[in-house]
Amino acid sequence: MSDTRVFGDVNLLAKAAARQTVEILKAAVEEYDNAVWVLAGGSTPLPAYEIIAKDYIDALDWTKVTTIIGDERVGPLDGPDNNWHAANQIIGNLPTIKLRPLSDQTAENAASNYAMQLASLPKLENGLPRLDLVWLGIGTDGHTLSIFPGHASLQPTSDLVIPVHDSPKPPADRISLSLRALQGAAHVMFLATGADKKEAIITAQANGHSPAGLAATIVETHDGSVHWLIDAEAAN
Ligand code: 6PG
Repeated sequence: MSDTRVFGDVNLLAKAAARQTVEILKAAVEEYDNAVWVLAGGSTPLPAYEIIAKDYIDALDWTKVTTIIGDERVGPLDGPDNNWHAANQIIGNLPTIKLRPLSDQTAENAASNYAMQLASLPKLENGLPRLDLVWLGIGTDGHTLSIFPGHASLQPTSDLVIPVHDSPKPPADRISLSLRALQGAAHVMFLATGADKKEAIITAQANGHSPAGLAATIVETHDGSVHWLIDAEAAN
C-alpha cells in the first residue's frame, strides 16, 4: 500500500510527519509493548524532529521505543556530518532506547558492530528485525539511506547493515541499512521537499528503478505501507 500527501510548505509537512509518526509508534507499543523507529539522516527530517521533541514528549511511553539510524556517515561522532548527532541534538530528550552506530571506526567495523546491535531488536517470523517505522529521505539521484544508483551499495546482500565506500554524496565512507533490512518495515515514511527532488520522486513512484523506488517496492511486497510526504515544490 502506498499513499502520497502534498503539503503547502515544509512546516505543514513536518507537523503531519510528527503526528503520523506518533500514531504509528503508539499503535506498535499498544500491540507489541515496544516499538522500533528508524531515524533518517540528511536535512529534510530536522523540522519534524523539532516538533516531536517539543510537542509529543508526553504522547507515548518513549521508554518502550528503540531508535536506530538508517544510515550514518563515517567520521567524528559529534561532527557536523554525523546523522545521529544531528538528530539527537533535537530528539535526544526523548527517553528512547538508543542504538547508535560506532561510526568513528572503519565502515566495515561500524557495519558489523551495528548489525550485532540490531540483533537485540524484536524479530519477525522470518527472523528479520521488526521495524515499525522507517523514515527515509531521497536524493536528487534517487538514492535513499546510503544506497546509491549504479553503486556497489545496491548489490543484493543478506547483510542487514552494509559498509559503503566512494559514496557519490560526501562523505565517501558510510554505513547503511540494506534493502533487505527493509523487508521488516511495517511503515516507511519518505520525507522530501524542494523542486530538485521532483524527478527522483516521479521515477521512484513510477517504476521503482532507483534505490528509493526499490526500497518502496520491497516494503510494499512484504506487506508494508509506504507514505510519501512531500511539499508542493517537490510534487509533480
Ligand atoms: C545521508 C542521508 C541521505 C539523505 C538524502 C536526502 O546521510 O545523507 O541519509 O540518504 O536522506 O540524501 O538528504 P536531504 O534531506 O538533506 O536532502
